[in-house]
Amino acid sequence: MLSTMLPSCVSAEESRQDLVEIELFPEEEAHVSNAVSQRRAEFTTVRWCARRAMGRLGLGPVPIVPNRRGAPGWDERLVGSMTHCRGYRAAAVALKSRVHSIGIDAERNDALPPGLLESIALPSEQAWVRDLLRTETSVAWDRLLFSMKEAVFKTWYPLTGRELDFEEARITVDPEEGTFRARLLVDPGTELCPQVLSGRWHADEEILLSSIALTVPAPVRHSAPHAVLVRG
Ligand SMILES: CC(C)(COP(=O)(O)OP(=O)(O)OC[C@H]1O[C@@H](n2cnc3c(N)ncnc32)[C@H](O)[C@@H]1OP(=O)(O)O)[C@@H](O)C(=O)NCCC(=O)NCCS
Repeated sequence: MLSTMLPSCVSAEESRQDLVEIELFPEEEAHVSNAVSQRRAEFTTVRWCARRAMGRLGLGPVPIVPNRRGAPGWDERLVGSMTHCRGYRAAAVALKSRVHSIGIDAERNDALPPGLLESIALPSEQAWVRDLLRTETSVAWDRLLFSMKEAVFKTWYPLTGRELDFEEARITVDPEEGTFRARLLVDPGTELCPQVLSGRWHADEEILLSSIALTVPAPVRHSAPHAVLVRG
């Protein structure tokens, strides 16, 4: 499903189960050597997803080590994003020449714990979430809003290197089209990150997905200057 939510220049891979028999690079292994089995499983399977996605771009496997603030350290030619929740792992990568940044996030399709919506949502967001919770009950819209904000953060952070609080992006959703927009309420400070990010969302019975890909605009083609004939 994830690949249909992203532009064709983005390579995505997802898995609904953990794959045993996968080896990590020693640099990666060092990050999970003392981890509980669930953390080890998600860390490993999501890197398998990333290597599969990279392979489709013609790039061989390399270590993907958590860097500053947990952001994955990609091959210098790449941008990408990874996510995991119970029953789902996914990675999406693209060449830097085609995409400035990617943010993907998966959550269980279950309501947020009581009281959490108020702490992650602006008043306008709480209003649309509550409306949709009344009319369309197959989607945990409160959790989906959370997922969209996580996707915004994963897109934002690699470009800015800065924190972004939940009240610093205002999300609006199109429930029919499967799209959303995030208006950043702070200045990104880099032209690579627009003030409004467009994303896609999807829900099935178990999983909610949010995705953003900031594609590099195609170069503007100028028509060839008219030849000037000088008759002498
Ligand atoms: C970093 C964060 C977004 C991760 O989201 P999550 O739902 O907890 O976890 P997910 O499983 O979906 O994603 C985890 C993956 O995100 C990636 N990630 C972690 N930190 C990241 C960062 N700073 N930038 C980009 N990606 C990051 C990693 O690949 C990580 O997987 P790994 O540890 O196996 O390498 C979240 O923990 C967080 O800090 N949120 C607060 C900031 C925020 O969301 N603000 C809202 C802005 S509107």
